[in-house]
Amino acid sequence: LTAKYPDDTRLLIEAGLKEYFPKKRNPELIYEAMSHSLFSGGKRFRGILVIEAAKLLGATPEEVMPTACAVEYIHTYSLIHDDLPAIDDDDLRRGKPTCHILFGEAMAILAGDALFTEAFSLIAGAQKTGDRGRVVDVVWELSSAAGVTGMVGGQVVDIISEGRGIDAATLEFIHENKTGALIKASVRAGSILAGASESELAGLSSYAGYLGLAFQITDDVLDVVGDTEVLGKTAGSDAKLGKATYPSVYGLKEAKAMAESVVGRAKEALNGLSGDTAVLRNLADFVYERQF
Ligand code: IPE
Ligand code: IPE
Ligand code: MG
Ligand code: MG
Ligand code: MG
Repeated sequence: LTAKYPDDTRLLIEAGLKEYFPKKRNPELIYEAMSHSLFSGGKRFRGILVIEAAKLLGATPEEVMPTACAVEYIHTYSLIHDDLPAIDDDDLRRGKPTCHILFGEAMAILAGDALFTEAFSLIAGAQKTGDRGRVVDVVWELSSAAGVTGMVGGQVVDIISEGRGIDAATLEFIHENKTGALIKASVRAGSILAGASESELAGLSSYAGYLGLAFQITDDVLDVVGDTEVLGKTAGSDAKLGKATYPSVYGLKEAKAMAESVVGRAKEALNGLSGDTAVLRNLADFVYERQF
């Protein structure tokens, strides 16, 4: 493996999440369900993207931390709901029992709702860097990436495609929306807060679009070849559900080759940017090489 993961940034996010998480209050049960899922590991890949994009453009991690934490709230909400019996029906997440297994379906639904809402509360209340116009732009980016024009839309097509043969364009739509949209919006949010120029935003968006697609292709590959223990989630879940995945449509070997080529395109998209893009390049390599 050649990719270095920015663990220093990951640890900053862990600290930020602890700082911003609402102090436990009435009703205690929902805060327990939320923190079970939020503080059970996770690569913090999307929060890292917010921070590393901002750093490239001259901002500090502290300046964008509320937004970095907010994207991790949104991501954790999406995992809690994705694991529900009505969606993917998974029992294991981040090496621990899923939220609904420990707290019941009603609390898991509500914990997801709460994290999603809290994300926007955090941005509106604590994101001070960037004028209010930039903060509103970030709210727009993240809400449209999470909603029906992004992640929710992708999840809908993921569900209605179970057990059917689908075409290449539909498969790409699923992946770019259910996973790619939030990854792209994370990069864009960090860039916008740091005052990206139009050409910087275009280059970084292109990078992030490829990165997001590759991230989900690798997720599909790992569901086939990965190890439950290392993944922290049950391998083989996609085949069991008849999910439309890159390995199911193209075969394992071709899916891996596609992930590698899309990662290559992500890195190429950085060529026009000035500044040190090493961390973003490493993150792209990580997406292809990762084992979890
Ligand atoms: C898993 O995301 C779900 C997808 C959208 C592919 P991650 O692989 O980033 O999961 P964590 O946050 O590290 O647990
Ligand atoms: C993840 O897709 C999509 C979202 C959570 C939005 P998967 O269903 O493949 O993710 P995992 O494999 O359960 O993490
Ligand atoms: Mg799913
Ligand atoms: Mg799933
Ligand atoms: Mg998966």
